[in-house]
Amino acid sequence: MQHLSEVLKILDGALKANASMASSYAGLLADKLEQDGERQQARQLRERLARAPVALVSAQDAGHGVSLGQLPTDNESRLNTVDVSRPRSLDIELVLPSAIQGRLNEFLQCVRHFDELARAGAAVPSRLLIYGPPGTGKTQTARWLAAQLELPLLTVRCDTLVSSLLGQTSRNLRRVFDFAEQNPSILFLDEFDALAGARGNERDVGELQRVVIALLQNIDALPDSTILVAATNHDQLLDAAIGRRFAFHLPMPLPDAGLRTALWQRWLNSFAPDGLDWDELSHLSAGTTGAVIEHVCMDAKRTAILAGQPLIEESDLYRRLGLAQALALGERLSTSEQEIAWLRQWAPDRFSLRVLGAMYSHSTRKITSIIQAEKGENNGNKKGARRR
Ligand SMILES: Nc1ncnc2c1ncn2[C@@H]1O[C@H](COP(=O)(O)OP(=O)(O)O)[C@@H](O)[C@H]1O
Ligand SMILES: [Mg+2]
Repeated sequence: MQHLSEVLKILDGALKANASMASSYAGLLADKLEQDGERQQARQLRERLARAPVALVSAQDAGHGVSLGQLPTDNESRLNTVDVSRPRSLDIELVLPSAIQGRLNEFLQCVRHFDELARAGAAVPSRLLIYGPPGTGKTQTARWLAAQLELPLLTVRCDTLVSSLLGQTSRNLRRVFDFAEQNPSILFLDEFDALAGARGNERDVGELQRVVIALLQNIDALPDSTILVAATNHDQLLDAAIGRRFAFHLPMPLPDAGLRTALWQRWLNSFAPDGLDWDELSHLSAGTTGAVIEHVCMDAKRTAILAGQPLIEESDLYRRLGLAQALALGERLSTSEQEIAWLRQWAPDRFSLRVLGAMYSHSTRKITSIIQAEKGENNGNKKGARRR
């Protein structure tokens, strides 16, 4: 039978006297039937849905295929414990190494063909764990998945969940998981380490441990077909018991030279300066993330637009990249003199005395003396540190 999982969910909703669950999945089923060309059947379903009680209809999100019931909230803060978004594929582009993209596509295929695989006894739970350094595209990947599957993304704000009075957390978790089970969606636990790293962390025993246990129970109680994605910056903090519960693991690497070029091209697009040396740009941005590249490009674009220029200025682009690299290395540059000295030693070929002079409106002689003075300061500091 086609669309068995929707039919089962509608049945679940009816048996649990949960009208919102039943109607959500009936709406989804109507959409799927329509996509299959079964317009007559889709219309019949929608006519039934239109007869649902008013309270239910108002909870539905008109104009979009999938409707959602009442959002779960945190009792104390009254904040929603989840953010609902509906990413669209047009807005999202992922730049990933081919093997990682391959694994992601495999996950997508398994989710799409869950029923078929289940009939053959070959289904895997639709659960994906994404891990890697900040800014490598983990959240973006979850959004991309939601866009591909045309499902709402329920992002759980793990910070709200935890900080909102620890005693409440387990109950909040239960609500969020119930909600995800009852509404066609992707449940996305972002910054997952806030929840999952607790076990064995001596400072937070007790209450947080209970949260982890609740989390494990919730994951275990989830039907295999409910799509669960979790993202974390610290996979080493993750509890092994939690890692095992995810059938798919996606390690997000820092972009290599080729991917950095692709990321620069993606974000500079039509604003790229004429004759830009992509290899040099890729080389100088070694060790950065996609997030940094995006940030540098956006800042440079804004500057160009506000100056009424159609293209970004090359030296401005490199300067911004240099400052971002300094930040990543923990260099604190609070004066333009420090910036000048840093840029000169970071990329001496690119930042000649003349280029720096033009950029900071100084003579080359002045630039030379600034660099000398900064060198002296640095050496002085180092000696001072040694003496102490
Ligand atoms: N591999 C990538 N592909 C496309 N965009 C990326 C990639 N990595 C980072 N970005 C960009 O950087 C920004 C931050 O990425 P995000 O997904 O929030 O990182 P993370 O969740 O890993 O900290 C996003 O706006 C995204 O556009
Ligand atoms: Mg993120």
